[in-house]
Amino acid sequence: MNFTEQYNEYLTAVEGALAAAAEEMTFSPSILGESMRYSLLAGGKRFRPVLFYAALHALGYDYLKEKELAAALECVHTYSLIHDDLPAMDNDDFRRGKPSNHKVFGEANAILAGDALLSLAFALCFRAAERGESHLLAAKRLCDACGPNGMIAGQSADLLWSGKRGGAEELFFIYENKTGRLISAPVEMAAILAGGDVGAGTAFGKNLGILFQLTDDILDEKGAAERMGKTLGKDKLEEKLTCVRVFGMEASEKLADEYAEKCLCALKAFSPEREFLEGIVLLARNRDH
Ligand code: IPE
Ligand code: IPE
Ligand code: MG
Ligand code: MG
Ligand code: MG
Repeated sequence: MNFTEQYNEYLTAVEGALAAAAEEMTFSPSILGESMRYSLLAGGKRFRPVLFYAALHALGYDYLKEKELAAALECVHTYSLIHDDLPAMDNDDFRRGKPSNHKVFGEANAILAGDALLSLAFALCFRAAERGESHLLAAKRLCDACGPNGMIAGQSADLLWSGKRGGAEELFFIYENKTGRLISAPVEMAAILAGGDVGAGTAFGKNLGILFQLTDDILDEKGAAERMGKTLGKDKLEEKLTCVRVFGMEASEKLADEYAEKCLCALKAFSPEREFLEGIVLLARNRDH
């Protein structure tokens, strides 16, 4: 099976887990479930749950058994995007090739859709945690990664440094937290469940998260909006602290190459079965969406 076929196999499993979670989204008033499903089922690369499945698979674990945690990962990520797009944050009108949640349902409903997806993710985590100690620890990883010591800290720093003169230290704090934690978490969760080396998972996941945001920043400047499914050029406009702002485009591209190397190197300690994960690194480096 080549890389794309394997990605699609994981993707199909992820979409199944999400469809199962979405089926339960028949909340009242109906606009609540509708707004949640609108963003959750709008496509997207499903990078985090695919990474979770790939890491489990690499460690010889039957990934199909882990529907709740895979769905929880994407629910948290989707909530973070809905809130990230709000006028009070990045004020973005497009996401995943469609009008942003608040453009369709209004700001107040978009806030609630995000709140609801996060709460649902916690409920899914608790459901998974009932299966035993390692599931409890894996679920806890996700809860820690998305909270005030993780993704939210990164989002807070992202806002704090907008329009200010930050340097590499501030930039990497933002990267490691707003993006890195939710990309490292799936690898760590997989290691916890499959009895792998969690430290090696963190080393790989952290570098992959940084690489992912480096390319997000690069693509905001030179990507194609129709491929990315979001309005580009916004970082410059809002004077966001990005790698392009701190280092310039050429040095940013070099830095992305360096981080891809770091990821490949860290992978060696994670699993002997690493061909697909190496492909994930190349995808994070060379992606156009
Ligand atoms: C976008 O995430 C936000 C970042 C952390 C850069 P993705 O690029 O994974 O977006 P989707 O899920 O594919 O829409
Ligand atoms: C978003 O980073 C990170 C999170 C949502 C946590 P960006 O603001 O750069 O993501 P995009 O470019 O809007 O997708
Ligand atoms: Mg943002
Ligand atoms: Mg944004
Ligand atoms: Mg961006």
